Amino acid sequence: MFYSGESDVNVIKAVKEAVGVPVIGNGDITDFSSCREMYERTGCDLVMIGRGSYGNPFIFEEIAAKLHGEDYAPPTLEEKMRVMLEHIGLILELSEKCEELAMHEARKHAAWYMNGYYGSAKFRGRCYQLSSYAEAKALAAEFIDLQRERGIN
Ligand SMILES: Cc1cc2nc3c(=O)[nH]c(=O)nc-3n(C[C@H](O)[C@H](O)[C@H](O)COP(=O)(O)O)c2cc1C
Repeated sequence: MFYSGESDVNVIKAVKEAVGVPVIGNGDITDFSSCREMYERTGCDLVMIGRGSYGNPFIFEEIAAKLHGEDYAPPTLEEKMRVMLEHIGLILELSEKCEELAMHEARKHAAWYMNGYYGSAKFRGRCYQLSSYAEAKALAAEFIDLQRERGIN
């Protein structure tokens, strides 16, 4: 669909009915219910998640647990920020660019991890100014403090 409109599940369903190999349903899966809907509406064998994992790599564990009827404990904000810093650290480590330029790629990820919290818009804006890992670490600590002040963990 080239990211316009919603993915056409009827096409996936038609493919599933036409072929004998496993079919992977993909498009617009952002949580457990959209994942379940993909399985139910298409009969697909597996699913693939792209944009729904931006800033939320925990989505795979969450959906897998819920599909198996297991308890799922979402990550705390502290855990999210720890994973965000690990993610950014890996981007910088694997990039062939210098830290400042590699941060241009990494900082959008930092911003995504901060979605949905108090003051997120302002912090996301600040993420786009980041030019080093040390700055990202300091910003994550500040973000955690701000949420704690409001009783959010
Ligand atoms: C970062 C990223 C890279 C992608 N790269 C490719 C690609 O190289 N080839 C391709 O056919 N689709 C690519 N896609 C499209 C995805 O495979 C997928 O079809 C699309 O993102 C819709 O799924 P989603 O709603 O879960 O993101 C990419 C998507 C993302 C988010």
